[in-house]
Amino acid sequence: MSDASKGSVTLTLDGTNRSSSAPLVQASVGPAVADIRKLYADLGIFTFDPGFGMTAACESKITYIDGDQGILLYRGYPIEQLAENSDFTEVSYLLLNGELPNKKQLAQFTQDVTMHTMVHEQIRRFFDGFRRDAHPMAILCGVVGALSAFYHDALDINDPRQREISAFRLIAKVPTIAAMAYKYSVGQPFVYPRNDLNYAENFLYMLNAVPAEDYKVNPILARAMDRILVLHADHEQNASTSTVRLAGSTGANPYACIAAGIAALWGPAHGGANEAVLKMLEEIGSPENIPAFIEKVKDKNSHVKLMGFGHRVYKNFDPRAKIMKETCHEVLAELGIKDEPLLDMAMEMERIALEDEYFVSRKLYPNVDFYSGIILKAMGIPTSMFTVLFAVARTVGWVSQWKEMIEDPAQRIGRPRQVYTGATNRDYTPVEKR
Ligand code: ACO
Repeated sequence: MSDASKGSVTLTLDGTNRSSSAPLVQASVGPAVADIRKLYADLGIFTFDPGFGMTAACESKITYIDGDQGILLYRGYPIEQLAENSDFTEVSYLLLNGELPNKKQLAQFTQDVTMHTMVHEQIRRFFDGFRRDAHPMAILCGVVGALSAFYHDALDINDPRQREISAFRLIAKVPTIAAMAYKYSVGQPFVYPRNDLNYAENFLYMLNAVPAEDYKVNPILARAMDRILVLHADHEQNASTSTVRLAGSTGANPYACIAAGIAALWGPAHGGANEAVLKMLEEIGSPENIPAFIEKVKDKNSHVKLMGFGHRVYKNFDPRAKIMKETCHEVLAELGIKDEPLLDMAMEMERIALEDEYFVSRKLYPNVDFYSGIILKAMGIPTSMFTVLFAVARTVGWVSQWKEMIEDPAQRIGRPRQVYTGATNRDYTPVEKR
């Protein structure tokens, strides 16, 4: 833990003379945190923070978000600069190692990752066990978890070299498994990776190529895919990353931890939102139905949400959404799609929502998923693959956070407390007396 503590917060238990002083731990940027680890010893109480909205569960040097200003930094670099000038492989190196690579380091890293892109032939057999209509996230979750059964040589999490090899394997193999899940669902043969292509190109190739024809990756679409991967690569302690850290804190192997992260990502409140946005737009059907839909969203009893809107941290705008909207226009132009009704509807919904008191007062803005689904649909990627793609991108973030956690001397098993409000101690009654 950083020792840059300046000042403290004192908590006093009302009606007693007992107090606890929580030292303030300074962040390099952003708010300080109160270190409450002595609270129970001093006052006999825990803190209550459902959803962990106020709780820093770890110290991290990877990603910084300022939700009020709409700032996202990977290792200090603004996401806008990385999206514009870098690419996913370089960003992966940055997230994992903390610094941008020089040419030699980048070449070595690229080789380290690409030499692991193929999966063990036995893994092909796993797919036969799934129904053809299985959701690709179900397949991804299962097959990534199963990787632990293949790499007994690298499961010692206390060995830095084994951790590094596992990182390369996960970053390299998740796209291959993701593409296989897709090919399986459409009944096409699996396409082996091509290491002469870059990460995004290879992923598009494995998704779209068929043995019967030549497939050339469109460079504009590959660039858009790369940008989507960069934008989704990490996002500090979100639900899936916290899941990876929690699983990892028990000493579980990295493949099991990343499978746990994939499971957490699947939910519609998290990575499943891009798929949900598209379904929502399709259900609304046409622009004249938008006002009625917005009214439904505002009615608490309907339990309908405007998918792709709102974020736990961003309360001004999501910087990723801005870049995604521009990319969306670029992709549609490249593909010669002049009228995309879903994009027109998305823009109209955004306009209406941003003027509506309900959304304005709650600081609800489009998040990264609002436009990504439209881009992916235009690229011919089926809706069920959207969250899978998010998982492909986020794998490097999960692995970086897992590695940071294992290397943190302050790391302990994650074990939240609770406020118990159930029955107090009572005696068992035999069934005939109940
Ligand atoms: N549509 C309508 N109302 C919303 C929405 C939305 N999308 N999001 C939040 N609200 C409302 C809530 O009902 C609540 O209203 P209230 O104060 O009257 O009760 C208020 O805004 C605050 O929302 P919370 O639910 O407290 O916000 P929280 O931080 O817990 O949730 C979340 C954030 C889960 C992202 C939420 O905004 C949501 O469900 N959005 C839609 C799903 C989505 O797009 N998820 C993707 C997130 S980004 C990502 O994972 C990549």
